[in-house]
Amino acid sequence: MVGLLDISSQRFMTKPTQLYEGKAKIVYTTDDSDLLLTYFKDDATAFNAQKRGTITGKGQINCAISRHLFQMLEAQGIPTHYVDCPSDREMRVKAVTIVPIEVIVRNLAAGSLCKQTGLALGTQIDPPLVEYCYKNDSLGDPLLTRDRLLLLNLATPEELDYIRQMSLDIDRHLSAFFQECGIILVDFKLEFGRDRQNNIILADEISPDTCRLWKQGETDPQARILDKDRFRQDLGDVESAYKQVLERVLGQAK
Ligand code: TMP
Ligand code: ASP
Repeated sequence: MVGLLDISSQRFMTKPTQLYEGKAKIVYTTDDSDLLLTYFKDDATAFNAQKRGTITGKGQINCAISRHLFQMLEAQGIPTHYVDCPSDREMRVKAVTIVPIEVIVRNLAAGSLCKQTGLALGTQIDPPLVEYCYKNDSLGDPLLTRDRLLLLNLATPEELDYIRQMSLDIDRHLSAFFQECGIILVDFKLEFGRDRQNNIILADEISPDTCRLWKQGETDPQARILDKDRFRQDLGDVESAYKQVLERVLGQAK
């Protein structure tokens, strides 16, 4: 409830209205119709919300990690929705209409790729694989082909080409950044939005909720996991893994 106190403080002329509550964030309006406020929750879900829990302190950690990664990407010329963080769980962002596609980029095989193809966990993928899922909870976020995506009019062919290229650029920047932090970027999920001028920009968050991150040099397949797979697979030490990622990202971002 800290966030509700934060957002109803005198920093806002008018009372913010909750626009939407997602699994990990709440989105509010602000005084400025071009900006929204996202509040990062401690709630964690997996397997299309069939598994639910709380990761204490996750909201602050994911907000801080996302902030640093968005700032790093902006400095590399990637347009993002990031504006600033008025508090440690809040991020002010440009108002966008989310493109209902979850873009997944994979550098090593893990998760659903291993399950659906039989590829061994950790198989190097070069060049990286870009996949698209339909952001639709009632359908279970199914994997989409490019043709299905166009059939559903989720994006134009030009937008899709742009999103794909931007995702690969983001992968290069993030992989290099995490490598400096002693972390291997296995795979991650991105979401994009259309701003008021209809430009496609990076939205949502980039955090241990949305990336697979392995500790470099750690060969134990469970001990190396520093991301939400610790929650998905009931491996324990979830909070400390998220904290380690934050410390490494902050150390590198200095
Ligand atoms: P997957 O292997 O389960 O398809 O996940 C690929 C990547 O996408 C992984 O880094 C976790 C992330 N992800 C999300 O951020 N949200 C989701 O709902 C799912 C299924 C995966
Ligand atoms: N966040 C997703 C859900 O609960 C799944 C996941 O991240 O594994 O639907």
